[in-house]
Amino acid sequence: MASYNIKINGKARAVEADADTPMLWVLRDELDMKGTKFGCGIGQCGACTVHLNGNAVRSCQIPVSAVGESDITTIEGLSEKGDHPLQEAWKEHDVPQCGYCQAGQIMNAAALLNKNSNPSYQEIEDATHGNICRCGTYNKIKAAISTAAEQL
Ligand code: FES
Ligand code: FES
Repeated sequence: MASYNIKINGKARAVEADADTPMLWVLRDELDMKGTKFGCGIGQCGACTVHLNGNAVRSCQIPVSAVGESDITTIEGLSEKGDHPLQEAWKEHDVPQCGYCQAGQIMNAAALLNKNSNPSYQEIEDATHGNICRCGTYNKIKAAISTAAEQL
């Protein structure tokens, strides 16, 4: 076990963990931040997506010892009141079904819009195809991202 000071959603958080503990476990089990979901645990589904310095990463694949001074943003920190344009668009399009993949989908989409506020359909397709939704909400996800981009 070692001590780490990690910046999550703008706040310093102290955690005790083994160096190879994935950030996903730190978030969910140590810090009780359950918005980030465990899907596959092997980097394949995107349910655990958070931002590391604004980039979408799979928190099941990031050891706590690799975070250092980087800024982590989770779904809890995307917006204070849950009113990020993507979250509003998600409601407008009634995107989620079971909801399990959706925090990861939104964080992935937010990283796209951080870099490209006016993505083409193909750019949205390319950016989102790695996030798996077993309920098949893909068309609504892409429509909601387009709507959110219009607000930016
Ligand atoms: S839980 Fe991390 S990619 Fe599936
Ligand atoms: S909404 Fe059910 S897995 Fe995506």
